[in-house]
Amino acid sequence: MKRSIIAFIVLVELIVGGALFYNIRYLYTERTPAPASSQPVATAVEPAPTPAEISNGVALNSGAPLLNLPEVIFNLFTPLPVEASPGTYVVSDEMVTLGKMLFYDPRLSVNQQMSCNTCHPLDRYGTDNLQVPFSHDGTPGQRNAQTVYNAALHISQFWDGRSPNVEEQSKVPIMAAGEMGMMEPGYVESILRSIPGYAPFFAAAFPSSPEPITMDNAAMAIGAFERRLMTPSRFDLFLAGDRSQLTPEEQQGLATFVNVGCSNCHVGVTVGGLLYKKLGEIVPYDTSDLGRFNVTGLDEDKYVFKVPSLRNVARTFPYLHDGSIQSLEEMVTLMGKHQLGKDLSREQVVSIVTFLHTLTGEIPLDYIEPPQLPENGPSTPGPLVKN
Ligand code: HEC
Ligand code: HEC
Repeated sequence: MKRSIIAFIVLVELIVGGALFYNIRYLYTERTPAPASSQPVATAVEPAPTPAEISNGVALNSGAPLLNLPEVIFNLFTPLPVEASPGTYVVSDEMVTLGKMLFYDPRLSVNQQMSCNTCHPLDRYGTDNLQVPFSHDGTPGQRNAQTVYNAALHISQFWDGRSPNVEEQSKVPIMAAGEMGMMEPGYVESILRSIPGYAPFFAAAFPSSPEPITMDNAAMAIGAFERRLMTPSRFDLFLAGDRSQLTPEEQQGLATFVNVGCSNCHVGVTVGGLLYKKLGEIVPYDTSDLGRFNVTGLDEDKYVFKVPSLRNVARTFPYLHDGSIQSLEEMVTLMGKHQLGKDLSREQVVSIVTFLHTLTGEIPLDYIEPPQLPENGPSTPGPLVKN
């Protein structure tokens, strides 16, 4: 009897002990953090990788799956070409020479005082730095003037993309009442034909045209000139493989830019210019300009604009379609909030702005050297409007 009691107790101890041991093991495995691969991929704002991590090609996200930053960069951005070649014609040096003259010629405006260069001064990064420009008669415009540098690479022209390319675009300001005010292509042609010095330049640029001096050819020449208005910067050399071109802080800024999601929209060769997106994608932004809706009439295009290129952005202030934002830091903070739904820290904003400065390129001073313009002929009319 005594023995059987002892045997029973031993048996119970063994069972309880085994169960306990099993449970502890079970509890332990359950409570151990799940392996990294089953954790949700972090999308929240994360600290940027250190410069050492970047140059070693280590992960952008600290969690899995791992992204290789250099590869991401090479997939997201590409260096500027020397020319934004059109698919439809071959840009010749003769077209470019003529196009430059026309770009600088104020006789393409109704008061003969305003050229493309008035609102897009080429020695100042191609923009006037005004909130909105003034027309030939001093009326303020509706939108901020974008830069003409690198613009030929964009999917379309203007804030709302209403013009397909730089050739078509250049006719708009010449005619527009609110800009150069010529109204009639025929009037532009009559002015150009009355200036004897233009004839050889048009003939050289358009050798197969029976009547080379036309509005379409003038527009094409201006477009051809714009297609070589490129401003490569240190960022291009960096992308081409020379990592020493960006300081560790600038590389950190690039990582922050990509990591928080700016490159969802500001992507590609011009770091923007290739997509249409809503201003206020996540948090509504207060603006009365309907943007692309005016072009397509589609409800989903309300407040949609062409994502601007960020090349030379440190020099092309003020910002947004209405030129309402003066400071780049404020602009970056607003983008974080309205486009990404993120409250960027002061540190992140400064880091991004540090990177954005590397997109300031070199102005091609020889290429933009103001040309000698041909003199009026005996029948060249004076300004239609005097002011
Ligand atoms: C009165 C000032 C003014 C003059 C003169 C002017 N522009 Fe503009 N330009 C603007 C404004 C404002 C915009 C933006 C308008 C919009 O998006 O609705 C613009 C936009 C552009 C764009 C679009 C760039 C982009 O990224 O989409 C190009 C290219 C351009 N202009 C070239 C020219 C050329 C070429 C001429 C001369 C034939 C010219 N402009 C004359 C004010 C001017
Ligand atoms: C969802 C797309 C989207 C995202 C994400 C986005 N942007 Fe933008 N960004 C735009 C659009 C669209 C505009 C032009 C809106 C307008 O003019 O009304 C713009 C304008 C800007 C401008 C003004 C440029 C100029 O020439 O006026 C800057 C600078 C800028 N963004 C930087 C950033 C930065 C930095 C980030 C990341 C923090 C970012 N953006 C994220 C779409 C986006």
